[in-house]
Amino acid sequence: MVTLERLHAEHADALLAFERENRAYFARTVPDRGDAFFTPTGFAARLASLRAEQEAGVCHFHVVLDEEGRLIGRINLIDVTNGSAELGYRVAESATGRGVATAAVAQMCRLAWTSYGLTSLTAVTTLDNPASMKVLTRSGFIRVRDTVVGGRPGVGYLRFLGAPSPHEAHTSAAS
Ligand SMILES: CC(C)(COP(=O)(O)OP(=O)(O)OC[C@H]1O[C@@H](n2cnc3c(N)ncnc32)[C@H](O)[C@@H]1OP(=O)(O)O)[C@@H](O)C(=O)NCCC(=O)NCCS
Repeated sequence: MVTLERLHAEHADALLAFERENRAYFARTVPDRGDAFFTPTGFAARLASLRAEQEAGVCHFHVVLDEEGRLIGRINLIDVTNGSAELGYRVAESATGRGVATAAVAQMCRLAWTSYGLTSLTAVTTLDNPASMKVLTRSGFIRVRDTVVGGRPGVGYLRFLGAPSPHEAHTSAAS
């Protein structure tokens, strides 16, 4: 079971530690943030900028916590416009392969609908990221376009909110 918490200033230390520990892992599939991001000053500036965007309602950032309250992931909605936003997520290498991203996406979709008033979400991933493609597909996202992400061939996805994904429907029927 994972918990999503809306990003706030007190997450700063745990978030920087998470990004540092997983820098090389994330860089295998998503663009690296650059050295300045990983310094205390650079990270503080970046966090302040994210929180300003969040205050303005343009984005909704969240950390993903495990049962012990450890920060094991991030999941974000960016560029909120016309009832839609783009979903993005990352999970600590040590926590992968256990359904963390799938559970976080399910919670994020519910929050997007019930708390943020969104009616659809988009997402993109690269063709060389089968784990992310699997997370999106079983979370009810459908492939809608071919695209390029950070210079690599990718896929664009769309999910309409308000109904459970096939995975959620199956999980609740089985329990
Ligand atoms: C992609 C990512 C979010 C997945 O997180 P996760 O918590 O491991 O995801 P889940 O466990 O919910 O689901 C992943 C699924 O992909 C599968 N998978 C993993 N690697 C795979 C591969 N190479 N080929 C096919 N399937 C793969 C897993 O087995 C799992 O399926 P299962 O539950 O049926 O076994 C995580 O690896 C990550 O943060 N990667 C780096 C950042 C990133 O790529 N973010 C997404 C950008 S679009």
